[in-house]
Amino acid sequence: METKIQLKESDMPRQWYNLAADLPNPPLPPLGPDGKPISPDMLAPVFPMNLIEQEVSTERWINIPEEILGLLYRWRPTPLKRAVNLEKHLGTPAKIYFKDESVSPPGSHKPNTAIPQAWYNKQFGIKRLTTETGAGQWGSALAFACKMVGLECKVFMVRISFDQKPFRKLMMATWGANCVASPSNETNAGRTILKEMPDTPGSLGIAISEAIEQAVTDKSGKTRYSLGSVLNHVMLHQTIIGLEAKKQLKIAGEKTPDVVIGCAGGGSNFAGLSFPFVADKIAGADIEIIPVEPKSCPTMTKGPFAYDFGDTACTTPLMAMYTLGHAFIPPPIHAGGLRYHGMSPLVCQTIVEGLMTPRAYHQLKCYEAAITFASTEGMICAPETSHAIAATIDEAIKAKEEGKEKIILFNYSGHGLMDLTGYDAYLSGKLSDYSLPDDDIKKYTEPLKQFPPAEKHKTGKW
Ligand SMILES: Cc1ncc(COP(=O)(O)O)c(C=O)c1O
Repeated sequence: METKIQLKESDMPRQWYNLAADLPNPPLPPLGPDGKPISPDMLAPVFPMNLIEQEVSTERWINIPEEILGLLYRWRPTPLKRAVNLEKHLGTPAKIYFKDESVSPPGSHKPNTAIPQAWYNKQFGIKRLTTETGAGQWGSALAFACKMVGLECKVFMVRISFDQKPFRKLMMATWGANCVASPSNETNAGRTILKEMPDTPGSLGIAISEAIEQAVTDKSGKTRYSLGSVLNHVMLHQTIIGLEAKKQLKIAGEKTPDVVIGCAGGGSNFAGLSFPFVADKIAGADIEIIPVEPKSCPTMTKGPFAYDFGDTACTTPLMAMYTLGHAFIPPPIHAGGLRYHGMSPLVCQTIVEGLMTPRAYHQLKCYEAAITFASTEGMICAPETSHAIAATIDEAIKAKEEGKEKIILFNYSGHGLMDLTGYDAYLSGKLSDYSLPDDDIKKYTEPLKQFPPAEKHKTGKW
């Protein structure tokens, strides 16, 4: 039995999969300040038109340009691995497979979209990209991608991670990017927040506001903004993960998996792995699909489905999603990439349809799962990834109790070698769990009632 299923470069998918083509009900449209659906050209100051076309596309398959494939070959295809040692440790009849996205140069799934985004911007004549980063994974991925295609890169890094994760800043510097702590004094959005809350740990919402502001105020017109998650085109680029996994499971002689799991911050690594399997579920396959989030930022499990802004300064269009409110600043947990108030509208519509079932875990349980994984498979995962591992372990134990030989597939979204301060805090007993009080959720989501209601359209089939 092979425990690593490798593909050749020539086996890599030549097209991305767009779930928007197959969802029975499309996601609700993004709305402009007047409450009406926005038109693609309204996004033009923020994104290049070639990416906007992907954002609004309902084509099922979108070709991956040869030059992008050439850049992805630096680390793709990624291996599909079987966690035989974890299986043995748990004594489960389940077979646990995971897609190892930690093998990319920056160490996570993020370059799967950073490379195409940088490439399409370059094609469009853009010289500089701005972005936000939580844990620093996305910032380092975009820094890497910009270096590979020849663009400048500016990163606003959430303050708490800027302080907790100094090595990510150095990675960005090595790839030639400029990284500052957010909120910063470089933008109106940052200055306003610093005046109100000088000690704020920051949030992805604030950092997004700063990065957008800097892109749209560049008078040369040669700067655009790049987002590492949430948007449709990001989910699209990440589907290469699930498309490769399908081929690899087939090589391993497996049928469709019974359970597909990923951690979800803005939804991209989870969507990347799961969307090709959502297509199978829509076509009749019986698969349980589980996005996992932290209990301290329970967007999908506790937030209402509502129209909300994607950022704190209310600069983005209103998007229909599960949300904790754009003003919500999540507690400073170590899984910085899961501290986002909203969620990809495509993932949210898939949840509304009943095609996937979100779950939330406390951080202590997740670190415990990370240690179990490191002790069995030997790999030290990112704090975000530990959420997927915790759910995988629960599902494997459930399979044992039920006496079923289930196929469980999860996404190993990144390694934790730059996140060891979190492990230090856990191992020295300094971490605690934090559940968001219902009153806080009410406080931050109450103001969303002023926006148009987001109706839940579902067929009731799942
Ligand atoms: C390793 C890793 N996994 C998961 C995430 C969560 O992001 P997303 O939900 O977009 O995959 C992040 C975000 O920073 C990350 O760095």
